[in-house]
Amino acid sequence: MQEAPEIETLKSDALARIAAAADLAALEAVRVDLLGKQGTITALLKTLGQMSPEERLEKAPAIQAYREAAASALADRKAALEAAALETRLASEHVDLTLPAPQAPRGTVHPVSQVMDEMAEIFADLGFSVATGPEIEDDWFNFTALNMPESHPARAMHDTFYFPDQAPKGGRMLLRTHTSPVQVRTMLADGAPVRIIAPGRVYRSDSDATHTPMFHQIEGLVIDRDIHLGHLKWTLETFLKAFFEKDDIVLRLRPSYFPFTEPSVEVDVGFALVNGKRVLGGSGDESGHGWMELLGSGMVNRKVIEMSGLDPDECQGFAFGVGVDRLAMLKYGMDDLRAFFDGDVRWLQHYGFSGLDQPTLSAGVGAKA
Ligand code: PHE
Repeated sequence: MQEAPEIETLKSDALARIAAAADLAALEAVRVDLLGKQGTITALLKTLGQMSPEERLEKAPAIQAYREAAASALADRKAALEAAALETRLASEHVDLTLPAPQAPRGTVHPVSQVMDEMAEIFADLGFSVATGPEIEDDWFNFTALNMPESHPARAMHDTFYFPDQAPKGGRMLLRTHTSPVQVRTMLADGAPVRIIAPGRVYRSDSDATHTPMFHQIEGLVIDRDIHLGHLKWTLETFLKAFFEKDDIVLRLRPSYFPFTEPSVEVDVGFALVNGKRVLGGSGDESGHGWMELLGSGMVNRKVIEMSGLDPDECQGFAFGVGVDRLAMLKYGMDDLRAFFDGDVRWLQHYGFSGLDQPTLSAGVGAKA
């Protein structure tokens, strides 16, 4: 058997190598060299098996002490190197809290909501406030108070959905067919003067490419002294110019009939045909132009003012009702009304608006998606 080198020398050599290992990879190499399958300490331990009991008794303690010293030095050095590595990582990596947060996927504002906000913004500037009424309405408010008594033929144009429930003021409860009942509710609640718009859902038993059983209207009502048709025309013209962001909006008032206005006027707006598309602007009487029906309006019928608790000899006013969905289609170019209410996410992503993009008069109510 070969004379083994002094264990103490081996040990101090090994401890020096462990202390000199500059990183975890170097330390691992030293560990394999000493304690690996072919390692020098492993080899020493194997020699113990070949010794006589006496010799083993004499040499084993030094060899075991060597193995233990090396193993514990390796563990200490490993912990020190790991701590140092963590220190450098902490020193070099940092979180910048001033960076903008990543964009989370967001829903969009439906064009109907957007257009309602735009209209509220424009009318607020004209001194109108926003009034509301219930969608499940009393027959009296929806029809009777608006000069459509039971069996009035105009009720047939407003075929709606009735509930089995008796209405407090007679007839049955129903889904309102227009926003006009809010006229009556507002006059009854607030008296005169009145200057309101009333946006909301309305219902009719109607369904094709241009009609859905539920759609949206905005009602307008002004009640004061000495109000006349000129005020109505100016108000609508001012609104439409702001809404379509165009100055050459030309209106045509056509005699019409609604039970709750007298006289009643249908309001048309002039458009030009450009590449087969209707573009609002200019008189509809020019060649290549036409008139498009936009909304119903008129001077509030005396009977309605009376039934709303006011004196028609004291005050009078005008009212109008306009389809919000139609205005949205005209302004933002959709061609199928039904898609408005399908809830298709692709449609909403395309035609919807950012929730952060609030319409304001100063920034332009025609905010782009
Ligand atoms: N309520 C009517 C409709 O839905 C519109 C309208 C409102 C007409 C106000 C005149 C005055 O058809």
